Amino acid sequence: MRLQKFMALNGVASRRKSEELILSGKVSVNGVIIAELGHKIEGSTDKVVVNGEVIASSKNPKVYYMLNKPVGYISTAKDQFGRPTVVSLIDTETDIRLYPIGRLDYDTEGLLILTNDGTLTNRLTHPKYSVGKEYEAMVKGRISLEAINAVKTGIDIGGYITKPAKIEIISQFADYAIIKITIKEGKNRQVRKMCDKIGHPVRSLKRVAIGSLKLGNLKPGQYRKLTVDEIKKL
Ligand code: URA
Repeated sequence: MRLQKFMALNGVASRRKSEELILSGKVSVNGVIIAELGHKIEGSTDKVVVNGEVIASSKNPKVYYMLNKPVGYISTAKDQFGRPTVVSLIDTETDIRLYPIGRLDYDTEGLLILTNDGTLTNRLTHPKYSVGKEYEAMVKGRISLEAINAVKTGIDIGGYITKPAKIEIISQFADYAIIKITIKEGKNRQVRKMCDKIGHPVRSLKRVAIGSLKLGNLKPGQYRKLTVDEIKKL
């Protein structure tokens, strides 16, 4: 795997930012600075250090947590505006670098997996694996058949047509509804944009499952380690 992809999968930065870090001589592999693009690494045996911090090595134990992300936290490791991050909610009792797999919006609640395992990150986020992510949304209005069909077929959310998704109406009230939507991709603010487009803006949004893993009864802000069985299933 190329070094910049490995860095991105391990939550260092985007692939492009990782390339910049490499070119500026901030990255070493097994003690040797790699300042050119194209270097390939083994992943499980190489020791990768970025800005003096060990990103991955065969000696790093892998850790896996699930968190019920509260509204008002951001899903990146650092925030330029100083807002609280999801990583700050978890006490790993060690100096292990954790990062979230995928993102939830600042104003979205629900299931987030945090780990230092780039392989699991790839398994859950690469489009070719099509892992389903299930959301419960409170949306405005009475849900029409057209809206349901649009979600099931695909919606233009501004230059991108969403893949067929599942939708289920849990409860319908006079002027709002609780629905469940399952998508197998993860474009920025995808569920909100889809609901906007079908005329049912989201009032609140919560992720309740990622593949086989269910949020269960974790309260916002609570977290726990994943079991070996849960990790295997993911
Ligand atoms: N879709 C959204 O619109 N927001 C999220 O946080 C996740 C999926």
